[in-house]
Amino acid sequence: MRLVPEWGSTFEGVNSPAIVQLRGVSHSFGGSTVLEPTDLDIVAGSFVSLVGPSGCGKSTLFNVIAGLLQPTHGSVTIGGEDVTGSPGHVGYMLQKDLLVPWRTVVGNITLGASLRGVRNDELINRAREMAKEYGLGDYLSHYPRALSGGMRQRVAFMRTVATQHDVVLLDEPFGALDAQTRFAMQSWITDVWRDTGRTIVFITHDVDEALFLSDRVIVLSARPGRIVDDIDVALERPRSVSTLTTPTFMELKQRILSTLHGSETPR
Ligand SMILES: Nc1ncnc2c1ncn2[C@@H]1O[C@H](COP(=O)(O)OP(=O)(O)OP(=O)(O)O)[C@@H](O)[C@H]1O
Ligand SMILES: [Mg+2]
Repeated sequence: MRLVPEWGSTFEGVNSPAIVQLRGVSHSFGGSTVLEPTDLDIVAGSFVSLVGPSGCGKSTLFNVIAGLLQPTHGSVTIGGEDVTGSPGHVGYMLQKDLLVPWRTVVGNITLGASLRGVRNDELINRAREMAKEYGLGDYLSHYPRALSGGMRQRVAFMRTVATQHDVVLLDEPFGALDAQTRFAMQSWITDVWRDTGRTIVFITHDVDEALFLSDRVIVLSARPGRIVDDIDVALERPRSVSTLTTPTFMELKQRILSTLHGSETPR
């Protein structure tokens, strides 16, 4: 059973229309530049990762795309609509997003709707279906304290997807997980992405994770951030552990690491 069949996957390759468009977006805090003028087109239904050194402006860029931060210059368009500085047009899982401890799994998934004052059986049923579909069927009425780290991350992610926006921003969603749980989460998120046809923009410090998940990896320079590489990840799907040792994977990994760290050879 697919979660919401009508969403379907919409990604038809790099020539599909851009759902997110940034034009000359830059940002300064107190006169100090964090983000250089940036142009970026993100194709509908694609999975795009951003990598770059700590403090280079990745979360700032997400805050601008989400409309939580008015950029110093430039514009953001989503689905053809100018949404610069206007929130409510994307699903956004913030860095270190937390569950609300006094709400159950279903209560957390439907939090966005509750905050907007919407509460109906259809939303709750949809949240229940989603939790069941993605392996939390036995935990619908559990509170976050009774869940493992990986389960909590899944609930936080479902909460983001439940907002029903076509574009989903995920800021280091798996940062706090051990390697094994992280790998399980990566496979899981690929399934959700395939099932729902959303456009996912993903921030990570893990180059393997970026390549494993994405159609495209964008590399940012150290602060002030600017795009220094933009890579089309031509790795077949579905991907598996063996993808991590293919020549294409190794080549792209080497390319990203040398951009991030100069000409150092990865160990
Ligand atoms: N509200 C703010 N006021 C002033 N400076 C800020 C503010 N938010 C972020 N900064 C600064 O802007 C720079 C970019 O921050 P940002 O959080 O976007 O980095 P990042 O790339 O997400 O880093 P990390 O990988 O560590 O999460 C940092 O130097 C940070 O200190
Ligand atoms: Mg950040």
